[in-house]
Amino acid sequence: MSFQIAIDGPAGAGKSTVAKRVAAELGFIYVDTGAMYRAMGLYFLDNGVDTDDEAAVNASLDGAEVTLEIVDGNQVVFLNGKDVNGRIRTEEAGMMASKTSAYAENRKKLVAMQQKIAASQNVVMDGRDIGTVVLPDAPLKIYLTASTRTRAERRYKELLEKGQEADLAAIEKDIEQRDYQDMHREHSPLRRADDAVLVDSSDLNIDEVVQKIVTYAKEKM
Ligand code: DC
Repeated sequence: MSFQIAIDGPAGAGKSTVAKRVAAELGFIYVDTGAMYRAMGLYFLDNGVDTDDEAAVNASLDGAEVTLEIVDGNQVVFLNGKDVNGRIRTEEAGMMASKTSAYAENRKKLVAMQQKIAASQNVVMDGRDIGTVVLPDAPLKIYLTASTRTRAERRYKELLEKGQEADLAAIEKDIEQRDYQDMHREHSPLRRADDAVLVDSSDLNIDEVVQKIVTYAKEKM
């Protein structure tokens, strides 16, 4: 039987960095489900699908094939056979993912893929609904969060380090908007599962968060 670690939480809480490191320490594979919603977001953008029209979105779903591959220990996402790992990281793709992840049919398609991946191998999976919907029986669930300000500051620093321009107030507003959308949608809204351990990373560094989760995992395994 495989062992699953579900990590959910809002955008910018450090889920992917933490999940990736936990997976490496435990020898599990890491699955970033947000990347799958982002790839679908790109698909709608590239094909001019009217994403205000749920029926149009549903009708287009069969044309998109999202696949994951692990290359040198890193997840690479393919959309209809093309590597879209770079393109999914833009703000535009993130916003599109947040918007279209509200649609039930889009979610159903990706959730089925995620459950299949987790059934046969040990995984650390991160997202918004992993502990509540995708893997409700996961033996370890983490709800990783941090204050809005902390999350905005992290993103701001990241952009500056990449040599890009950034506006802290605008980033914070973006994060608030995305949290609101993710937490208030009708289907699978972001929420902490009743049996998830709450980890607030506002005052912890990455190493501390990783060690905390690895310790919980070893206790459960
Ligand atoms: O984690 P992320 O920023 O890459 O996710 C992009 C969007 O996808 C996010 O705003 C909400 C959505 N998402 C989701 O609805 N369910 C998931 N399991 C993962 C992401």
